[in-house]
Amino acid sequence: MAPPPPPIRTHTLHTTIIIIIIFFFLTPTKPTPTPTPAPWPHQFHSILSMNYSGALSLIDLWYDWPNGRNFNIIQEQLGGPPLYDLEWNNGTSFLYHLRGVGSAPPTCRTAQLEVGILRPDWLSGAEYLGQQTVDGFLCNVWQKVDFIWYYEDVATRRPVHWRFYTGRSAHVMTFEVGAVLEDSKWQAPWYCFDKAGGVRTEERLSFADNSEELTQKRSLRGVMVF
Ligand SMILES: *[C@@H]1O[C@H](CO)[C@@H](O)[C@H](O)[C@H]1NC(C)=O
Ligand SMILES: *[C@@H]1O[C@H](CO)[C@@H](O)[C@H](O)[C@H]1NC(C)=O
Repeated sequence: MAPPPPPIRTHTLHTTIIIIIIFFFLTPTKPTPTPTPAPWPHQFHSILSMNYSGALSLIDLWYDWPNGRNFNIIQEQLGGPPLYDLEWNNGTSFLYHLRGVGSAPPTCRTAQLEVGILRPDWLSGAEYLGQQTVDGFLCNVWQKVDFIWYYEDVATRRPVHWRFYTGRSAHVMTFEVGAVLEDSKWQAPWYCFDKAGGVRTEERLSFADNSEELTQKRSLRGVMVF
């Protein structure tokens, strides 16, 4: 016959738990520093669901800081062919379709801005507003110059959502750090260039007379100058 099991020494167990609890409360808590937004990865791909006063669109965002380029491929809900908005760090932007609407040939517009693409640390200096749950994610929230509200997942530090003062907002559906679009896809089509091979500059945008249409479509840049 097996001997009876030894009695559980609940007395000692309780003492241990009480000692642990006392130590927990006696340990001085370090002051928590104000959270700062994670800098953007130098290369990433993101699918953004955009909403501007109920007008919905999907943006394929390819951010490529080392190569000085940024792509917004914009599909309006049940709209025409996607709009390719290719931005270079030297301020040149190409806006084009790869197919025309109906039987029209595809078109290209270029724009010359005074600034390049967003820097990875473009959020530095933003004002911390605390935590809020957005799209089901507990987020840290910052605001930058009454212009943008930025929501970052507390657990993973990935962006979840941002919203402009205009009400235009982005919901981040995917965020692939390190994803790079192949070089050939960054080549603007031939109809963006004149016969001599130069850029056909049709628009000169300054921030004084910003093209509303352009900035409305974009996920971020265009009006981002601090
Ligand atoms: C888009 O934003 C509007 C407010 O501007 C809101 O009423 C609507 O529910 C949003 N739509 C989606 C699909 O999030
Ligand atoms: C900026 O860079 C792009 C890509 O290399 C080029 O096509 C464009 O001509 C450049 N613009 C200027 C103003 O140099």
